[in-house]
Amino acid sequence: MNVDLTTPILPANEAAVAAAARCLAEGGLIGFPTETVYGLGADATNPVAIARLYEAKGRPAFNPLIAHVGDLEAARRIGRFDAPATALAEAFWPGPLTLVLPRTQDCAVADLATAGLDTVAIRVPAHPLARKILRAFGGPVVAPSANLSGHVSPTTAAHVHSDLAGRIDLIVDGGAVAVGVESTIVGCFETPMLLRPGGLPRGEIERVLDRPLMRPPNDPAGDTSQPLAPGMLASHYAPRTPVRLNAVSVEAGEALLAFGNGVAAGIDATTVTMNLSKRGDLNEAAAHLFGYLRALDATRARAIAVMAVPHHGLGEAINDRLRRAAMGRE
Ligand code: TXA
Ligand code: MG
Repeated sequence: MNVDLTTPILPANEAAVAAAARCLAEGGLIGFPTETVYGLGADATNPVAIARLYEAKGRPAFNPLIAHVGDLEAARRIGRFDAPATALAEAFWPGPLTLVLPRTQDCAVADLATAGLDTVAIRVPAHPLARKILRAFGGPVVAPSANLSGHVSPTTAAHVHSDLAGRIDLIVDGGAVAVGVESTIVGCFETPMLLRPGGLPRGEIERVLDRPLMRPPNDPAGDTSQPLAPGMLASHYAPRTPVRLNAVSVEAGEALLAFGNGVAAGIDATTVTMNLSKRGDLNEAAAHLFGYLRALDATRARAIAVMAVPHHGLGEAINDRLRRAAMGRE
């Protein structure tokens, strides 16, 4: 295994897919692209590899991981699907949707990966490289976002490298991701519940279920003790720079994260500005969100002022991540 400061970034080709699958089989850690964000993958059945993964991310071990599989058939080996879960899987997999289901009796996912819960989070990613790696490896792969715990999620191989070089074995470069925010997580309980807004808009899920998704009993953003989706810590997505939401003007020393073609008051020649989507397209904004937060964080501005983003479609996920970014880190 190659764990030094020169963690290689492999170009996307068959050799990289084979190297990634071999690395997983040997208990190694890989950075790889999914359509939502880059993942940090480990063999889901290997507790030693998973322990290494938690260590590499600096992640609290009570925070369970998503098992990535190649198709619905593989998903059925680890999770028990009721009718609504099957309908969602058939409608949206492969794609940016994670289902939380009861574990099967012989579920091979290690207890460490599910943090001892009797449920398991499962996703079939759509990115062609992720699919090839899963096929070549042949088993479930747990993969949190490939960033240090508490940092902004990575949307390019370079982001993964800047957080995790020297801590993981290799990174497969699939270019910038298409979606840009993590998968939507639905808990398939008695009544389906939206555990995390994400890359699949709520409305599309509710159309298939023909009912509204329930909200978790505690707003996870406000409760970091025992949240239902335990990874939804309030400060999960925080840059180092303070973030100020719903800005209509820019103050001295602030950088601006803009949206749409409106103009914030107070901008001058020294204001660093990045626009999530000048034409007000929420999908484009999601794809840019984490990269722009990282870039503005690196400017050492006093704060990042963020203009309001509408709440429909992917706006729900974008606003969720921005709210967490604004809460700062513990
Ligand atoms: O788009 C994504 O989902 C990306 C890519 C790499 O697939 N992965 C990702 O993983 O965002 P992560 O570890 O950053 O977020 C996983 C979330 C956490 O909030 C965790 O608490 C929740 O899934 N989760 C995992 N298993 C769960 C379970 N059994 N019950 C409730 N929540 C669960
Ligand atoms: Mg994450």
